[in-house]
Order: sequence, then structure tokens, then C-alpha cells
Amino acid sequence: MTTQTVVLENVRATYGEGARRLVALDDVSVGFERGTFAAVMGPSGSGKSTLLHCAAGLDRPAVGSVTVDGVALDELTEDDLTRLRRDRIGFVFQAFNLVSSLTAEQNVALPMRLAGRRPPVSDVVAALEAVGLGERRRHRPSELSGGEQQRVAVARALISRPAVVFADEPTGALDSVTSRHILDLLRALVDEHQQTVVMVTHDPVAAARADRVVFLADGRIVEDLQGPLTAEEIAARTAILESGQTESLESGRTASLESGRSASLEPGHTAGSESGRTESLEPGRKASPGSERMAGAACLEPGPAAGISRPTHRRATGTTDRPSGRRPQIEDDPC
Ligand SMILES: Nc1ncnc2c1ncn2[C@@H]1O[C@H](COP(=O)(O)OP(=O)(O)OP(=O)(O)O)[C@@H](O)[C@H]1O
Ligand SMILES: [Mg+2]
Repeated sequence: MTTQTVVLENVRATYGEGARRLVALDDVSVGFERGTFAAVMGPSGSGKSTLLHCAAGLDRPAVGSVTVDGVALDELTEDDLTRLRRDRIGFVFQAFNLVSSLTAEQNVALPMRLAGRRPPVSDVVAALEAVGLGERRRHRPSELSGGEQQRVAVARALISRPAVVFADEPTGALDSVTSRHILDLLRALVDEHQQTVVMVTHDPVAAARADRVVFLADGRIVEDLQGPLTAEEIAARTAILESGQTESLESGRTASLESGRSASLEPGHTAGSESGRTESLEPGRKASPGSERMAGAACLEPGPAAGISRPTHRRATGTTDRPSGRRPQIEDDPC
């Protein structure tokens, strides 16, 4: 039996159509072991969030397969997928996180309540206290900062114990003390409860808390390092990637890393954008994750239930090629 909680095989994810088609993930294969903490790093636009969205069943890849906790996502109906997200996946995303009409404590309890369980109030309060929000438990998301909203999402993952927690820049909006605290909590999910954490971050200090650091560039995995790694080692790697000199990752792999710590660099998956990443739509290809991004992506309940606050997840650079009608309006989607 596999010990991998999340497996992506040959995943290709694209946005847009025709000449504007952009390959966000290009034949990515990666697995995340149960009870491990992985950081995903890479330059802006390298595909980190797309990887998380595909792995979490928020986007369907154009090609390839995703398995979460032994369940192949592409075989699921939308309702089953929604249920799987609710029961087995925790989200710590700054965008689309919390139900805006519910208080912090109601948000924390929501996945369990939707699953027909009623967590003791003391457990909910303890989870909010663990993230430093005991005093704010009656506040609604609009009354909390972005970082505080993410901490509510961490509290939710503390209480509902999903198999995997995906966190997209969970410390991006936090001061260093609060960041460390959140990282401690994510670490505890792994060390004490054998949950799996996959965290996108730009911060080498945050990534150094992970067991492994996967680097993306131009939609491909260019480096997969087993920890422990220091923040300095990670920063050195990041600097190489961001300078675009990714060939130096291949040749020598010096950059202050001891030999043997770099694992499973996929052959042929060195960076370098192959003549740009836009390409014309091949006939017969599935549509982009953007256009297939699931309605009510972060909804916890199938059907028209809990409206979830999906604060704008708009991109400065991204196109909005999604076919109209497929995509719900973002704020307070009735899921
Ligand atoms: N909805 C979208 N429509 C069109 N293009 C998109 C969309 N979402 C992402 N992209 C593009 O796909 C590529 C990968 O985006 P992604 O958000 O995964 O990058 P990222 O590594 O998370 O970047 P960042 O560090 O800035 O958050 C980028 O070129 C981005 O512009
Ligand atoms: Mg991102």
C-alpha cells in the first residue's frame, strides 16, 4: 500500500485557449508521503499555486492524474469531489478560505458539521487559541486581517484533521513571530498526527521547516531536495532559479549543498522555458484548468449549501479566458 497521500502523475495544466494558451504545469509527476511536510518554491508564475489547485481537486488538469488519500480524483463526480475536499483536505489559502457569513468559530467547526459531526465547543476554542485567535472567535472574516483569516484556516485543519493540508503562502501576510507560530502548528500536524502538509512559500525560512523542498520553474519540477535544509541553502537555490541560471542546478549542483541531498531531479526536467510556454491548442485537448476550475471550488458541501467566501483570486497577469457561465461569481458563492 502506498504511503503517499498525494500523487500527481504526468500532470499538465493549461490556461487560455488558442494562441493565448499557457502551459502552467508541464508533465509534473510528484508524490507527497504521508506524515511529511513539503515546501514548494519557485519564481512567481512558475506554477506553484496551479500545482496546489490540481493536487487539491480545485482544478482538473488537462492531462495526467491526481490521487489523494488513495482516491483518483478524475474518477469522481463533482459531488464526490466536493465531499472528498471537505473530509480529507484542509486549505490554508489566503483566497477562498472562509465562509464570510460565519464567525471564526463557526468556520472552524464547519467541515465537521457538514460531515454530520458536532465538535465540542471547547475543541473549537482550543483550536482558535492555538493559533492565537481565542479572543477573536466571534469575529467574521471581514473583521479579520488576511493573516488572521489564514490562521482560522489553520485552526480548522487542527480540528478536522484532514489527511492533507495544502497551504498557499500561509505566512506571506504574517509577522515573523506569528509566522513561526503557524509553522510550528503545521509541523505539529505532521509530527504529532501524521498528516501531510504541502506548503507553497517564497520564504526560505519557512521552507527550512519542511522535510523536503520541491522547486518549480516554468511549470516543471527542477529540483527536489530532501531536508533538513537551512534557510541559507534554500535561499541559494532560490537565487539560482530566479536568476534563470537553472543549468547550474544541473551541472555541479554546488550552491552550498552537500552532495547527495538533491533527490529525484527528473531527467529532462531542468528548467528553461522551451520557446516560451504558450502554444496553440492541440485538437482534442481537454480545456484548461481555468476553464474547468470547479464551480464552488472551495465549497465544503455539494449542492447549494454553505456559501463560501472566495475573496478575489484575480491575477494581475492572468487572463480571464474562462468560459462564462462555468465559473461562479467569486464573493459568497452559493456552493
Ligand atoms: N486563471 C488564469 N488564467 C490565465 N493564466 C493563469 C491563470 N492562473 C495562473 N495563470 C498563469 O499560469 C502560470 C502559473 O501561475 P501560478 O499562479 O500557478 O504561479 P505561482 O507560481 O503560484 O506564482 P506566484 O508565486 O506569483 O503566486 C502563470 O504564468 C500565471 O500567469
Ligand atoms: Mg501562487
